[in-house]
Amino acid sequence: MANLFAKKSMDVLKAEAAAEGADTLERVLGPVQLTALGIGAVIGAGIFVLSGLGAQTAGPSLMLSFVLSGLGCAFAGLCYAEFAAMIPLAGSAYTYAYATLGELIAWIIGWDLTLEYAMGASTVSSGWSNHFVEFLNIFGIHFPLWLAYDHWTGLKQATDTVARHMAVAANPSLVPGTPAFGAALDAIKASPTPELISQAHALLHAPTIGGVEIGFNLPAFIIALLVTWVLVVGIKESAKFNASIVALKVGVVLFVLALGSHYVNKANWGTDWATFAPAGFGGIGLAAGLIFFSYIGFDAVSTTAQEAKNPQRDLPIGIIVSLSICTLLYIGVAAVLTGMVPWREVNIEAPIARAFLDHNLGWAANIITVGALAGLTSVMLVMLLGQSRVLYAMAADGLLPKKFFGEIHPKFRTPWKATILAGFLAAIVGSVTPIDDIGKMVNIGTLLAFVIVCISIIVLRYKDPTRDRPFRTPFVPLVPILGILFNGYMMYKLGIWNWVRLIVWLIIGLVVYFSYSRKNSRVQIRESLGSGE
Ligand code: ALA
Repeated sequence: MANLFAKKSMDVLKAEAAAEGADTLERVLGPVQLTALGIGAVIGAGIFVLSGLGAQTAGPSLMLSFVLSGLGCAFAGLCYAEFAAMIPLAGSAYTYAYATLGELIAWIIGWDLTLEYAMGASTVSSGWSNHFVEFLNIFGIHFPLWLAYDHWTGLKQATDTVARHMAVAANPSLVPGTPAFGAALDAIKASPTPELISQAHALLHAPTIGGVEIGFNLPAFIIALLVTWVLVVGIKESAKFNASIVALKVGVVLFVLALGSHYVNKANWGTDWATFAPAGFGGIGLAAGLIFFSYIGFDAVSTTAQEAKNPQRDLPIGIIVSLSICTLLYIGVAAVLTGMVPWREVNIEAPIARAFLDHNLGWAANIITVGALAGLTSVMLVMLLGQSRVLYAMAADGLLPKKFFGEIHPKFRTPWKATILAGFLAAIVGSVTPIDDIGKMVNIGTLLAFVIVCISIIVLRYKDPTRDRPFRTPFVPLVPILGILFNGYMMYKLGIWNWVRLIVWLIIGLVVYFSYSRKNSRVQIRESLGSGE
């Protein structure tokens, strides 16, 4: 059993980090680009979409949910920063675990990061598609339902549209958006009549293969492939593309804060604790778990360690500055959103754009839709970047086929095959799978990575206290312990089914590990030859 916990020595890691040459990644990223990559990965579907559900859950105290979730990320972020500066290699949490907890845990975390990065990109590609379809609607262009959603979501949308017509036809005095309308709609959908079902299928108008209706989210598929193409042609190009998108989306968030603050009615924030936090501390905690998705991605900065010019100084900057900026923006947006609209009336599908529409600011809502589209594009970019670098690092260690996943393109200097595979996987999953459940898996997978990184910091401080640490996590072990508690609590809050999905995913990973990776591991091979690691 001992070799399941074989570790990569810090000296080997240092030597790998120092390697240069045509077959290595290119060191071109500075602190500004790294911070932009962090912001690029973070601001996206979470703030533009999930903040609505958060407001419905916590009321105006959604601001505190963002603080709570942000604190969990800050504790983990400080631990990532120590590792990223000490072990500046592409694998991020996977590599840190290899150095501290051993190969099996490293494999588990590498496999788990696929949930965060590739599945995260899939989730976001589907959100991107929703915004794109909305965007086309502005110009009167309507996308066929079966080509805008996976089959199940498309049918759900069609059913919803038909049920709305039926609700109004049955009672013309009902006003859409009111609780009475919602109740009528729920009643119709709870026991669907044959008429509702056949009209929904007619509206979906999907072609069939062998009698089975098909649905394919074409915009999600295309955007994932376009982003993959940008990633293949170079890290410099990707960073430039990301920086321009980040400027646009941060501009739109600042626009939301500047214009929205003029429409804030302080009475909407409540007059005392009971009206500020209508669901109490429990509601604040629950909403923190829901909007955790909005913070995911700052850790992806650490996967670019081998492409950073001065990783030891700049990776901690990239992680901490991007997380701090996003936290402040998020708290501001939560305040503006719950100030503009009474929390019970906050929309769930496009809460921020809707808040401006409610104030008859249609032009502003259109700007926000464009900002959301831009935001989601860069999230996908950095998520897929992270995924390809983790695969590359695992291949370099022999845990995945090196010829495929480890190959660097001679001209572009990117791990092009790993990038294309990750992009294609994200494109397929995003275009044919109902995305809600995958989004929750992304949360639990990321939280697990955060918890393991926090544990690893404590382990390495104990085992190797004198090693040079260019950045030191403050107040160890308090900060990592708080990271374990905060993020562990959010994992717990995600409920039993997400644990089951996580465990099934990890079991599949273990099958791959025992059938391929363990036999091809460079660390294991060296150990068996007696040269040690
Ligand atoms: N944080 C990213 C988003 O909100 C994943 O889209």
